[in-house]
Parts: sequence; C-alpha cells; structure tokens
Amino acid sequence: MKRKLIIKNKFKNRKKQRHTYYKNNNNSSSNNNTIISSSDEQKLYNQKNYDIITNNDIINDSDSSSSSDINSGSENSSSSSSSENSSENENENEKIKEVKIEQKGIRICIFDSQNLSRIISKDSINLVVTSPPYPMIEMWDELFRGLSMQQIPPVELWHHSNIMEIFEQMHLILDRVWNQLFYVVKEGGIVAINIGDATRSISQRFHLFPNGARTTMGMIKAGFTPLPNIYWKKSTNKPNSFLGSGFLPVNAYVTIDCEHILLFRKGNKRKFTFSEDILNRQNSKFTKEQRNLWFSQIWSIPGSRQQKINNKKVAAFNMEIPKRLIQMYSIIGDIVLDPFMGTGNTLLAAIELQRQGIGIEINEAVFHFAEHLILNFVNKEKKNK
Ligand SMILES: C[S@@+](CC[C@H](N)C(=O)[O-])C[C@H]1O[C@@H](n2cnc3c(N)ncnc32)[C@H](O)[C@@H]1O
Repeated sequence: MKRKLIIKNKFKNRKKQRHTYYKNNNNSSSNNNTIISSSDEQKLYNQKNYDIITNNDIINDSDSSSSSDINSGSENSSSSSSSENSSENENENEKIKEVKIEQKGIRICIFDSQNLSRIISKDSINLVVTSPPYPMIEMWDELFRGLSMQQIPPVELWHHSNIMEIFEQMHLILDRVWNQLFYVVKEGGIVAINIGDATRSISQRFHLFPNGARTTMGMIKAGFTPLPNIYWKKSTNKPNSFLGSGFLPVNAYVTIDCEHILLFRKGNKRKFTFSEDILNRQNSKFTKEQRNLWFSQIWSIPGSRQQKINNKKVAAFNMEIPKRLIQMYSIIGDIVLDPFMGTGNTLLAAIELQRQGIGIEINEAVFHFAEHLILNFVNKEKKNK
C-alpha cells in the first residue's frame, strides 16, 4: 500500500509549492539511506531550506491552520533568524525535514538538537524523556567526533593522559542540548534522561567514564533542579560475567548492570489551575500498585533486543521505560519531547498514552525507521477503532 505524503517547502517558497512524495510500506525510504557519517552530519547541520512533510493519509487537510501546540516554534525559526546577524542569516533558508501527524499531536524532525530553540517554542514542553548517545561507548565515537567538528581526535590518538579531556568534549556537546532543553521546557516541567556509565581500556588502562554524574552536573549548570533518580537494572544473559583477573584479588572490576534514569525539574512544582488540566490530571491517575513499583529506585526491566539499521546498532530502550516515565510525569494532552528520538519509542509511548509528542533525530536513516514505525502504529490504532 502506498502512502501519500505532501511536502510543503516552507521557507524557500512561501507559496506552499507542493510536491508529492510516495512511500511504499514494503520498501521504506530508510532502505535507501545510509547511516550518516560525521561529514554527512555536518552537511545536515548546514542544510538549507525547510521542508514540512505531512502525512496525508492520516491528516485530512495538511494545509489547514496548523495551530496545535506541537507546531509552535517552526515559524519562530524563520522569524527569529531573519532578525539575526549575518552568520545566522543562513538559517533563514535552513532546511529541516519534518513529519506531522496533527490529529495525534505528533511532530518529528531531522535536526540537530543542539539548536532546538530554533524549531521549538520557549516554555512549551511538559516532559522530556530521552536517552542520548553515551560518551565513551564505542558505537558513538564517530558521531561525537563529527559533532565536535573533528575537535575530538581519532581513536588511534586517544591515550589515558588525554582521555578525560575527550570525555569532557563529548559532554560539552550534550550540554548544548541540556541548555536548549532549559529554554523549551515549561516551568514545573520534568526531564528524564536515561544514560549509562561507560568502561573502556585506553592505552591499556581500564577506566570508568561516569556519564550519569557528568550529565547531572551538565543539567544543573543548564538551570535544572536534580530530583531523586532511578537505577534501571537490566537483566543480563551473563549474570556471572565480570572483567578482571579471575578469582584473584585485587584487579577485578564490578560489572555495570544498572543504567541511570536521571530526573530533573525546571523551576517550581507544576501547578494545575485550568479545569481541563485538573480533569486530565484526574484521568491520568495511576494505581497504588503502579505507584509502589514505579516510584522505587531500582527498576528491573530487560534491555530491548537491539535492532540494526543499515548494519549499525541503534541502542533503543525498552518501551516500558518511556511508558512509565510518561505516566509518572505528564498528564493526558501534555507535550512530550525526545531530542534523541532514535527508533521513536518515546513517541510511540506518548501516542499510546494520549500525549502529544515531538521527536528530533539527526540521523536520516534512523529518522525514517522511526517514521515508519510511528505511521504504522497510528494507522493500526485507526483501524482498531
Ligand atoms: C541512544 S539513541 C536513542 C534511542 C531511543 N531512545 C530509542 O529507543 O530508539 C540516541 C539517538 O540520538 C541521535 N542523536 C545523536 N546526537 C543527536 C543530536 N545532536 N540531535 C538529534 N539526534 C541526535 C542518534 O542518532 C541516536 O539515534
């Protein structure tokens, strides 16, 4: 079955010049894409023009006034850039691919979240549920190097004398996203970040890279207040595996079998004054059993089976994680953002739980993979009604 998508070239041609874009369910466009290399990422970052892709199967009138909350911000990106200085004038023609499912309040974009405030309005997000690339985990080395504009040296030049500096450079990239989150999240809004610490031998010296602690500091610097956090204990296939020297002291290492789910709030506690919010809050109530399970510090949940896109792992989290967090920290109708969307689990959970959602993904192939899953999910839901 072919699905028809309308692409509106928004900023280059304000007259809503239309193109028709066909996608085939069996041959998703993701098949033709390759994982973007660091130079591609840079190209993406510098792309010009701004396309909005709206699913016409799901949306009856893709041209209709798009005044729902999730749309806010995309107009901003043009108006704010036009008033900015020359280096930012390029942004006026910035090209961002965006897919909207307006009936579900869903918006997903190919974009670099280091610049979120260009496409999402200030104080518009109720909850962020995300998992960034983990610094010092091998699968993300090239991505960080690309995003650092090659400031991070190639792996061959890493040494235990410079490795903490490199670790810091990777976190400075994530810090930019945390700063942007502070701009887009509403007062009283919550940010939940799933991140694991990393271990790695660098020039034959074994190191721990404390991503949880460093991310907490980055979020505090961005302005957020830290809250008690969760340890996600992944059940492992190899419970007795450990790194080190067999059964002899002293050189064995504790196995890392927990990841962090860090929690933060922006400003003061959220207040519910509008009657609609009060009603939605009532309808979003959880049970006593759920409260007892969810609000304890250790969550024992298996990791999800890792999928590959173009032969590369995607590091998706188990859907149970975003589902719990969304029910704990948002109400029906809220806007949930994932600035590192990956395969779109946060968005799928948001749709299922009647929240609106925004997902941002820098990698085109991964974006199309998520797009496919989200559209299928929405269509299936539609059919089941
Ligand atoms: C750990 S994965 C997220 C997995 C996701 N939670 C899931 O369940 O599939 C991190 C994702 O962030 C994307 N990413 C990395 N840096 C980014 C950036 N600056 N802006 C947007 N996306 C980024 C990566 O391409 C990757 O897909």
